[in-house]
Amino acid sequence: MPLENRLAGKVAIITGAASGIGEAAVTLFAEQGAKVLANDLSQEKLETCHGSNPDVLCVGRDITEDGAPEALVAAAVEAFGKLDIVFNNAGVCPPEPFMDQTKEVWDHTQAVNVYAANLLAKAAKPHLEKSGQGRIINTASIQSKRAGEALTGYTVSKHGISGLTKQLAFELAGTGITANAIEPGFVTTGISKGYTDLMSEEEKNEFESYWAGKAPVGRLGEPIDIANAALFLARDESEFINGASLAVDGGASAKL
Ligand SMILES: NC(=O)c1ccc[n+]([C@@H]2O[C@H](COP(=O)([O-])OP(=O)(O)OC[C@H]3O[C@@H](n4cnc5c(N)ncnc54)[C@H](O)[C@@H]3O)[C@@H](O)[C@H]2O)c1
Repeated sequence: MPLENRLAGKVAIITGAASGIGEAAVTLFAEQGAKVLANDLSQEKLETCHGSNPDVLCVGRDITEDGAPEALVAAAVEAFGKLDIVFNNAGVCPPEPFMDQTKEVWDHTQAVNVYAANLLAKAAKPHLEKSGQGRIINTASIQSKRAGEALTGYTVSKHGISGLTKQLAFELAGTGITANAIEPGFVTTGISKGYTDLMSEEEKNEFESYWAGKAPVGRLGEPIDIANAALFLARDESEFINGASLAVDGGASAKL
């Protein structure tokens, strides 16, 4: 099969699509022949990223709002006639030391990073089942298997999305739908910048060199590295991969 049009005829929803990993995934999926509903909080930012792409429908909406997951699914099906792929990628990562947590921040982190993905999968299920090769891809994290400084709610949410992925693989047996998670390492994006911006220049350099050095490939991740993994999982050929978590971190998590 040629290395182009690998998603020909497919329709995808990608959340968190106005920045970082989601932005790269929308562009890649559309280049590979898919029609894509791109979701993020801001319609304006989405239009800036994807407004000139005829294969992309931009829908600015907070996915934690009541009815938002169902509305995204309805909009994708209305615009493109079907739905094959859901890439639950939107995420927040508020720095929050264990002793300084608030219920508000905790609840919002779980709502975006876990519950919205659960609801979007649920709303999409009838259409993914009709597809015969339905794909749910969730952006987890290397933090799905370990803890990180001042990231209590985030760590819990990323363990949660990995658990949800396995549960979906199990619950959706017999539907042709698979559910898999991607565990990115450190990738330079809006979220990681929000974290490193709290550091001094020296701490930031030390942090980034630590992660680049820890990865045997010797560099930090780029959004396209993660988008390429999502493309792989989105394809029909990946149908025997189910309930899995794929580390995409240059090998950083392979060593202690
Ligand atoms: N960057 C990294 O190092 C890294 C590492 C591991 C996992 N991740 C995960 O990758 C995913 C993508 O993050 P990124 O690194 O591209 O960061 P990013 O900040 O560039 O992108 C995240 C996007 O999600 C959107 N978003 C947040 N809340 C939303 C909501 N309620 N409704 C709709 N959209 C919402 C944001 O507006 C933003 O555009 C996240 O789930 C993140 O946890 C990132």
